[in-house]
Amino acid sequence: MTKQRVAVLISGRGSNMQALVRAARAPDYPAEIVAVISNRPGAAGLAFARDNGIPAEAIDHKAYPDREAFEAALHQSLLRHRAELVACAGFMRILTPGFTRRWAGRMLNIHPSLLPAYKGLHTHEQALADKATRHGASVHFVSEELDGGQVIAQAAVPVMEGDTAETLAARVLNVEHPLYVKALELVASGKVQFKTSS
Ligand code: GRF
Repeated sequence: MTKQRVAVLISGRGSNMQALVRAARAPDYPAEIVAVISNRPGAAGLAFARDNGIPAEAIDHKAYPDREAFEAALHQSLLRHRAELVACAGFMRILTPGFTRRWAGRMLNIHPSLLPAYKGLHTHEQALADKATRHGASVHFVSEELDGGQVIAQAAVPVMEGDTAETLAARVLNVEHPLYVKALELVASGKVQFKTSS
């Protein structure tokens, strides 16, 4: 089978990226991870990628005068790696509309909430403050609106009595990994398509 070429963007730990790398080793998985790119040179995930024979690259956003210059370097790198899809996984840079438009329908992100609830940061704290009984994670296409693009797949977890942001985050992270593997499979195999109107 022809696998879709996927670049994963990270900023830190990279546990979701690791889940994608492991899943993509299966011969029948419709995507291969062709590059791991971090905007932070010290991201722990880069070492994992290198250890696993995947081209790993740091593009330090601090080395560029503005977002556009950083994104131009990122775009060039994605072209160099001949990426067909981009999977943001704990990638902590806000992308400009110019960039998201170029990759519309081809760029995914994982967000730790049941979107459209709790866009942005501190989602676990927000769920606890709201006394939500369910929380979870979503994989969505990246659009101009932060955490606002078409949802591809979601996974829910219960909020338990006595949860802290940390215990809740850990429960959510456990479902993030299989969720991202499934969502990337759906997109790479063409089973889920981007609706241009959304
Ligand atoms: C995950 O919770 C993800 O949903 C959020 O940032 C965290 C990244 O974790 N966007 P990791 O780097 O994949 O371990």
